[in-house]
Amino acid sequence: MDVNGKAFRTIWLKADEPTVIQIIDQRHLPHRFVIEDLRTVDDVAIALKEMHVRGAGVIGASAGYGMYLASLEAKAQDKFEVQGFLRAMGAKLCATRPTAVNLEWAVNRQLEAVAPLGNDIDAIIAKTLEVAGAIALEDVQLCKSIGEHGFELIKAISDKKQGDTVNILTHCNAGWLGCVDNGTATSPIYQAHRRGLKVHVWVDETRPRNQGARLTAWELGQQGVPHTVIPDNVGGHLMQHGMVDIVIVGSDRTSYTGDVANKIGTYLKALAAKDNNIPFYVALTYSAFDWTISDGVKQIPIEQRDAREVKYIKGLKDGEITEVLLTPENSPAVNYGFDVTPARLITGLITDRGICPATPEGIANLYPDLSRFSIVNQN
Ligand code: MRU
Repeated sequence: MDVNGKAFRTIWLKADEPTVIQIIDQRHLPHRFVIEDLRTVDDVAIALKEMHVRGAGVIGASAGYGMYLASLEAKAQDKFEVQGFLRAMGAKLCATRPTAVNLEWAVNRQLEAVAPLGNDIDAIIAKTLEVAGAIALEDVQLCKSIGEHGFELIKAISDKKQGDTVNILTHCNAGWLGCVDNGTATSPIYQAHRRGLKVHVWVDETRPRNQGARLTAWELGQQGVPHTVIPDNVGGHLMQHGMVDIVIVGSDRTSYTGDVANKIGTYLKALAAKDNNIPFYVALTYSAFDWTISDGVKQIPIEQRDAREVKYIKGLKDGEITEVLLTPENSPAVNYGFDVTPARLITGLITDRGICPATPEGIANLYPDLSRFSIVNQN
């Protein structure tokens, strides 16, 4: 997508130095646009843990490239048992963000691809580079498909409102910054905007890391999409007053039964949407499904982050990014990164293969090759 009129993705191989991965370092947005070089697996692990990159799609793509850097390290360090080394590096990457299933999905995809190559390090380097590129490119295409399917929902509302503005509420950043390009929840919005529909986005600020206020607002602004940032607790009021036509959020892990883990606070928006009869959709690629989990609330691991992220807040002051203490210094705080919205509160899933109900049958219909639903139910 565009940054000051120039097309960018969130992650790429450095043009003149193909042993280096480049990312947009999202910690500095919206105030500064900073590109960071990643040279080692540790660089990638830190970038993931400390949210230089974040969001399901780009977390997966970073893990893919992280495994490529791991294979370069195996060669540089003359590792004798390459497969074991790669498994250890994969485990290190997976430990950084436990909720986003794209991370382990990408690591496993790399490990499966190199498994037949034994300790042939040059073949492994070539393969991990190829697979990392494929994961990133696939994410771009899958998100584009989500946009095409989700566009139809926005178009139907626009038609019903006789071309009047469609008001969409979103939570966190499920935009192109959270993916490689296009975004999941934002992809239908970008399609609608490009194709001339009148849209306006209510952007939840998304405490404590403020991905909505900092990132979604910035990327929508860069593409010229009308939007308004709102505190996280405003959505219910807007819904009660007919100011929200549809809610679209992303997902970090979705059970094969349709329960959705997404940024903390998503569940409360789903409850408010249900109470006000407002359609609540989740946009996700197939890589965000966990085909082993049947009960999202009980089984999806929820990341807990440093309480410091709740107690301190960052912003721009006199040209410098500054952090200030918000709470009494000694008050304890907790920081759950995600919550789970049960399938019963979800109107539908906007996927790369089409829109389906958030039910085991609906998901299995779109993904008969991946869903374990029919197998599980025969047992
Ligand atoms: O903690 P984050 O910023 O990685 O959380 C991201 C989200 O919850 C997004 O909504 C999600 O990844 C949607 S799909 C890009």
